[in-house]
Amino acid sequence: MATVASEAAASGTPGASRLLEVRDLHVEFRTRDGVARAVNGVDYSVDAGETLAVLGESGSGKSVTAQAVMGILDTPPGKITSGEILFQGRDLLKLKEDERRKVRGAGMAMIFQDALSSLNPVLSVGEQLGEMYVVHKGMSRKDAKAKAVELMDRVRIPAARERVGQYPHQFSGGMRQRIMIAMAMALEPSLIIADEPTTALDVTVQAQVMDLLAELQREMNMGLILITHDLGVVADVADTIAVMYAGRIVERAPVHEIYRAPAHPYTRGLLESIPRLDQKGQELYAIKGLPPNLMNIPPGCAFHPRCPMAQDVCRTDEPPLARVTYEGLTAERRSACHFWKETLDASR
Ligand SMILES: Nc1ncnc2c1ncn2[C@@H]1O[C@H](COP(=O)(O)OP(=O)(O)OP(=O)(O)O)[C@@H](O)[C@H]1O
Ligand SMILES: [Mg+2]
Repeated sequence: MATVASEAAASGTPGASRLLEVRDLHVEFRTRDGVARAVNGVDYSVDAGETLAVLGESGSGKSVTAQAVMGILDTPPGKITSGEILFQGRDLLKLKEDERRKVRGAGMAMIFQDALSSLNPVLSVGEQLGEMYVVHKGMSRKDAKAKAVELMDRVRIPAARERVGQYPHQFSGGMRQRIMIAMAMALEPSLIIADEPTTALDVTVQAQVMDLLAELQREMNMGLILITHDLGVVADVADTIAVMYAGRIVERAPVHEIYRAPAHPYTRGLLESIPRLDQKGQELYAIKGLPPNLMNIPPGCAFHPRCPMAQDVCRTDEPPLARVTYEGLTAERRSACHFWKETLDASR
């Protein structure tokens, strides 16, 4: 079991330094209505300097997996029932809470969608940015304020020195999201998890914020997990894509390979539902039906009720996240579909 999981978790560039490895992670939510199986054996990894994009429809377990990695899962009702989360080689699930907190402060940081509710409305942005240095580095308030200005410059907030005393509501949505990025970067973490960091912004601002994040990540050689609904957004920035469905990774591959030809019908559905400028007016392909109820996930492949390629075996046997091979493919690529070969052929 462990060997299968760790083999499945391996990906990325050989020899690069592995930052994070999630192995066979399971998370449940016990609620009054029953047990929701939100994460059902997730395997993924991130290397230094790598961007992993995690895609999937609403409710597929993207955020819950990230919360488990960050150690901010809503517990109860949430519970990690099994798995490992190795960060720089240490299993975070075996650390005591105070050790865990240290990792969370210095080693990894998270950026959320909604900056306004993540920032404190009654403290100036300078105080909030500076606080990171006061608490974690024991800096004086004066030095911390200078650092805050430096950070605001770094995320290209114009007139940082003048604006450091302003409050979150005095900034536009895009600028607030830059402040969130600055907070996450403050302690120069090795890993950033960005959960839909641009979803609340309008399209042009989205691109600017995304570019900034990608640039800082490159400069600092950080690992980045980018959670998003939007396959269009990840094309330029991601190295690897992991597609989630009903709490599992159903496909994982280098980004250009996935765009060339998906090896899972669900990925294919997602790709074909991106609006394209050259097909204006044409009806968008949409995946039929709805994601499953996590209290009652279908047997076999969870996607089978919606899958145009489903056969009998799909209704009974859960497909493993198997290795995909073809000529010219050197990186590791995986698909949890009994018919990955046929899917690849159909989409080429
Ligand atoms: N606090 C909670 N209490 C109960 N169930 C929860 C809680 N948080 C998440 N869940 C369950 O876990 C499932 C997966 O949630 P998650 O937030 O990971 O989805 P997601 O893939 O991030 O979706 P979205 O794209 O909408 O953000 C939810 O559909 C829900 O059933
Ligand atoms: Mg989410």
